[in-house]
Amino acid sequence: MAYTFFLRMLKNPRTTGSLVPSSVFLARELAALVKGSDHILELGAGTGAVTQALVQVVAQEKLEVVELQQNLAIALKKRYPNLKVLHSTAHEAVDNYQKIGTVAIVSSLPFRSLPLAIKQLTVQSLLSFLTAVPDAKLIQFTYGLGTPFSVPPGFKWQQVKWVFANFPPACIWVLTLTVSP
Ligand SMILES: C[S@@+](CC[C@H](N)C(=O)[O-])C[C@H]1O[C@@H](n2cnc3c(N)ncnc32)[C@H](O)[C@@H]1O
Repeated sequence: MAYTFFLRMLKNPRTTGSLVPSSVFLARELAALVKGSDHILELGAGTGAVTQALVQVVAQEKLEVVELQQNLAIALKKRYPNLKVLHSTAHEAVDNYQKIGTVAIVSSLPFRSLPLAIKQLTVQSLLSFLTAVPDAKLIQFTYGLGTPFSVPPGFKWQQVKWVFANFPPACIWVLTLTVSP
């Protein structure tokens, strides 16, 4: 049942979000924000545009990447044999991600176009994770003017910067807890 549901979602172009991979400039800006983190989880790795920048700044054993589309996950594993590549939904990967220390989640998930059910599951998993791991942050880019998605009180989005050398121009945001519980 769940499998059929996600297969159907997979065929939905709204899960891809953009027809072109992120630029090297956007990828480098995202990667710069993970420096110093003990663990990094990349969501929606796609063809590896951001992964490529991440492996330049962090040891591969600190990094895990997640991709919903099986062919892309297989290609990533071939390209980075030493990297943990999960063919999974982002929310399941986040729910199962148990780490101690500072965690940076880098997401290219297209929240503005994701099917609502997937968006809600994913946002809920991310908020639960940030609550459980107060030293964690979510690094997310969006092509729109507002925050990537709405959050309840207790969380805050910080706008980091616009990257105009990307098609379309992208804005990077960081989500954290406002205060530790
Ligand atoms: C906009 S593309 C970004 C690809 C790459 N990171 C980049 O920046 O060029 C979004 C990627 O997220 C993947 N994706 C979408 N929904 C997902 C989900 N719920 N779980 C995991 N991956 C997902 C899509 O298959 C697609 O490869």
